[in-house]
Amino acid sequence: MPEITVTALQSLKLKGEKITMLTCYDATFARAASQAGVEVLLVGDSLGMVLQGHSSTLPVSTADMAYHVACVKRGNLDALILADLPFMAYATLEQTLANSAAVMQAGAHMVKLEGAAWLADSVRLLAERGVPVCVHLGLTPQSVNVLGGYKVQGRQESQARQMRADALALEQAGAAMILLECVPSELAAEITQAAKVPVIGIGAGSATDGQVLVLHDMLGLSLSGRVPKFVKNFMRGQPDIQSALSAYVSEVKAVSFPASEHGFSA
Ligand code: KIV
Repeated sequence: MPEITVTALQSLKLKGEKITMLTCYDATFARAASQAGVEVLLVGDSLGMVLQGHSSTLPVSTADMAYHVACVKRGNLDALILADLPFMAYATLEQTLANSAAVMQAGAHMVKLEGAAWLADSVRLLAERGVPVCVHLGLTPQSVNVLGGYKVQGRQESQARQMRADALALEQAGAAMILLECVPSELAAEITQAAKVPVIGIGAGSATDGQVLVLHDMLGLSLSGRVPKFVKNFMRGQPDIQSALSAYVSEVKAVSFPASEHGFSA
């Protein structure tokens, strides 16, 4: 069992203490990030872009995810390991169960699904069978071809209303956590206030219960050369990677990251 459990994350929300999450794909970084006090290690399907060099997350398989979860598990100290189910790995309820089992048996403590209210049956099914679920709303990179690019979501009032309703419907279905990506800061603040479960943001302002960044981004590494507005390079001014990871944890806990320049307006 990790020391950081779903219950521990829930207590952080209740106490008003910010939750720290970073993506992580291997044992050495798992050790460094958990040693720095990162509470959640997200084995994200962003590994398709940052490790495998693809231009999207779509080519990632469940076998890839299980392999990297197992690597992270070996280096982790006491963080909670959250694993993405990749593109089309939860298209049916049968696939959802089988692919969740694969990453949980590899060492994950929670799975993350991208989508909206249509995920409710999957969330309920998994939660009833002992799998905590984080739902990823807003910019959902697996749907990049439907969204027409990596764009801020929820700027129009109708979209914002829908996102608020989706978040609460998924919480009602049993989601243990909500992740909001590239959402106007005000909307993210409203969803965080309305939700009982922790809400983690990336490009969603400082009012969410916690923050996540892609590890390579916050270490100043970029394959494409394009750095999203919500990224801060924590290597700047730090002597080494371990100090950069600690600076991330301190700044998230102190609510000095993200600053207003890292967020989006409606
Ligand atoms: O896959 C990933 O790294 C993610 C983060 C961008 C939140 O889902």
